[in-house]
Amino acid sequence: ARILDSVNRKRANGTLPDDEIEAIVADFVAGRIPDYQMSAWLATVACRGLSTPELTALTRSYTRDGGRLDFSGVDGPVVDKHSTGGVGDTTTLIVVPVVAACGVPVAKMTGRALGFAGGTLDKLESISGLRVHLPADEVVPMIRSVGMVITGQSGDLTPGDGATYALRDVTGTVESIPLIAASIVSKKVAVHADGLVLDIKTGAGALIPDRDRAVELTRTMLDLARSFGLSTRAVLSDMSQPLGPAVGNAVEIKQALAVLRGERSPGLWDLCATICRLMLQSADPGLSDEEAELKINKALDDGSAYEMFLRWAAAQGADVTVLERPDRLPSATGRLLVTADESGLVTQIDPRAVGSATLLMGVGRLTHDAPLDYGSGVLLHRRVGDRVSTGDVLAELHYNAGDIEGARSLVHKAFVIGDETPDVPPAVHEIF
Ligand code: URA
Repeated sequence: ARILDSVNRKRANGTLPDDEIEAIVADFVAGRIPDYQMSAWLATVACRGLSTPELTALTRSYTRDGGRLDFSGVDGPVVDKHSTGGVGDTTTLIVVPVVAACGVPVAKMTGRALGFAGGTLDKLESISGLRVHLPADEVVPMIRSVGMVITGQSGDLTPGDGATYALRDVTGTVESIPLIAASIVSKKVAVHADGLVLDIKTGAGALIPDRDRAVELTRTMLDLARSFGLSTRAVLSDMSQPLGPAVGNAVEIKQALAVLRGERSPGLWDLCATICRLMLQSADPGLSDEEAELKINKALDDGSAYEMFLRWAAAQGADVTVLERPDRLPSATGRLLVTADESGLVTQIDPRAVGSATLLMGVGRLTHDAPLDYGSGVLLHRRVGDRVSTGDVLAELHYNAGDIEGARSLVHKAFVIGDETPDVPPAVHEIF
């Protein structure tokens, strides 16, 4: 069979022709290749890598038979963003309404959790009534009437990514430069906004932790996106500790609402501010850094970003009273505190361990069709560089069910307390 020849050729470091890649993806989408064979193909690609022509073919094949959004009916440029995903990474829920409140329309297709990293789509499903899957023909009217849209990445637009993404999540084939690049860029090609900002994470909680490899991923994605005609900027951002203080589903919605109401959480807000600036500048290249920052701060301080989020959520069907009273979002009945065993400085908070702890509490999926717990999560009380005393609360676990002792132990181990002042990493390492 073609799929097995292809696996063998790739394993022997051979080159895959464009039509072979396209046929494999098309056959998988059509159900003619079973999951186990596609998993073997993806695993081999993850191990061997792809050349530039192979990567271009894979990206194009993901969008095959999918639709394209047409923003010609929208006044002015439309912008988009995407991150490689992380822990406590609530950026989309903050930057999209901020940028939209600054008058620049945003179209954002968003995905589910991948491995230990959270997914905006899962977080949004904790808002009762919110329609997370808009048909393509509702996207442009939503942007025209509200100014922003966040919708689940739709198999209609990128059938190939839709089919492989869910498989990758549960087969250990997420952490691959070409598979991440093709997955993300294919969605951006289908949306085809006028300006795109990519947020590539580096550090222990990133899909690609090593800094040099994360830079390689950044350059790969920039070249790929630009080769499809997308005007693209990128930030290399820090994921060596959880980005924001909340890790979970509804807890991250609450966190986003708090920031939109003006709480500038360290780390989380710093990154959001940079992404917002680049998004505004991609719509208006003449905008200086200072002008962009003024607009962004105004949108936060005068409440217009918060109002934008509510208006958007209402337009997509949400019960807005729940957002106005976030204690009515899904919650958890159990509370467990994780405290410091010794005094000193927090030198490390391992984001993978925190992300994995939330998986044990049902926040993400360990298998394909596992139901999610929207109310559970971890709230971090400390960041790297903070001084703590014995007994201080480092984190709170909010749980309903699951392996809570396992989760507690992971969060406890995630915190490293020492005597030496750690280098506190900046939220943004580099801008491309
Ligand atoms: N986000 C995506 O959409 N795809 C990936 O492969 C990784 C992060």
